[in-house]
Amino acid sequence: MMTSAIQPSSVPASDHIAPAPRVAVQAFCETVEIAGTVQAAGEDRRLAKAHVKVQMGGITAALEAYRSAPTPNVILIESESRGDDLLRGLDSLAEVCDSGTRVIVIGRHNDVVLYRELLRRGVSDYLILPAGALDVVRSICGLFSAPDAKPVGRVIAVLGAKGGVGASTVAHNIAWSIARDLQLDTVVGDLDLAFGTAGLDFNQDPPQGVADAVFSPERIDSAFIDRLLSKCTDHLSLLAAPATLDRLYDFAAEAFDPVYDALRASIPCTVLDVPHQWTGWTRRSVVAADDILIVAGPDLANLRNTKNLLDLLRAARPHDHPPSYCLNQVGVPKRPEIKAADFAKALDAEPVVTIPFEPHMFGTAANNGQMIAELSSSQRLAESFRQLAQLLTGRAQAKKASSGLLSPLLGKLMKRSA
Ligand SMILES: Nc1ncnc2c1ncn2[C@@H]1O[C@H](COP(=O)(O)OP(=O)(O)O)[C@@H](O)[C@H]1O
Ligand SMILES: [Mg+2]
Repeated sequence: MMTSAIQPSSVPASDHIAPAPRVAVQAFCETVEIAGTVQAAGEDRRLAKAHVKVQMGGITAALEAYRSAPTPNVILIESESRGDDLLRGLDSLAEVCDSGTRVIVIGRHNDVVLYRELLRRGVSDYLILPAGALDVVRSICGLFSAPDAKPVGRVIAVLGAKGGVGASTVAHNIAWSIARDLQLDTVVGDLDLAFGTAGLDFNQDPPQGVADAVFSPERIDSAFIDRLLSKCTDHLSLLAAPATLDRLYDFAAEAFDPVYDALRASIPCTVLDVPHQWTGWTRRSVVAADDILIVAGPDLANLRNTKNLLDLLRAARPHDHPPSYCLNQVGVPKRPEIKAADFAKALDAEPVVTIPFEPHMFGTAANNGQMIAELSSSQRLAESFRQLAQLLTGRAQAKKASSGLLSPLLGKLMKRSA
């Protein structure tokens, strides 16, 4: 990597460049030439799935933009400068960068000392001018295809402590918010093969989905999974459940591994809607996820089950931060409920969010095939899903001093996951 960065244009144009996954790329340029070069790179076939946005203003504009907005998968910074002001700028950028964001610097100085300083600061690549569109393509694609590259995608598993607690509803609304508010390409994987509701909730009836993958493991790769996705919104796709009963869904524990590998290689974020079952493959899907959210209702059975799940998952994942849980359907009229504080005491962990019982809003959304945030009267609920989206993707909370319910806790969790 070092040699190719130091001699940028020496590689023949015909070398193989693996296409980039569906990542968001934002460039902050200082000169119109480079803005044009990056724009042209964005039109290259190997970046067809990526979303490339070009702005002017260099690192100053980037700092301004990300003070209050989540960072994309890749940031490109053009800088004329060599010494301390570039490094200082990058240090400030690092403070506002979300975990997982990669930075490429484009500059003029063919200087190994500078290059080392940049790498030390976590910069992924330094492209030296003059560089053409193909150099930019190669640099972006290289972030994801190098043998030691971290896979681009995170998998988030959402499961209910009991059936009917709203786990699927919460999972779908979180995925929608990740796609809309954080602009990350996201897939909802509906693992409730017999009875899943993701198709209904997103008003989709695709002919293909997760069953086509898991019943033909030999065909699975990113391109095959791509064809099984159905597009819901700009950044959101669905890997739907068949929701039919003509087959049985008894799988080997590892059956979904190749599906998750293929998703991780090409989709920045996958939200798994895990059915309320305890089988080899559901357990493995949850244990292997990057992040886990348990959805619980405020009663004794939910409390017991959440405790068992937390204990098991903490033991099975000793080097990860523990799963989060949220309370849902809180405040059903006339129903005796266990208070959030008592839940927290018994579990030795606070719920990351508490969602009220709102039958009119959830019922309307479900019957219309809409998400909560699409209903005009539901902004408070939408905010809860947005906070969950930020927490589960490791995105810093809205960086302007937020007074949200979740923020102190979110800060703590983010530190733990860093
Ligand atoms: N906070 C809530 N208030 C009212 N109804 C809710 C709430 N959350 C979910 N629901 C409703 O509860 C029902 C079960 O939700 P679902 O997501 O299918 O649960 P699960 O996946 O846990 O079985 C659905 O009709 C859904 O609209
Ligand atoms: Mg469900």
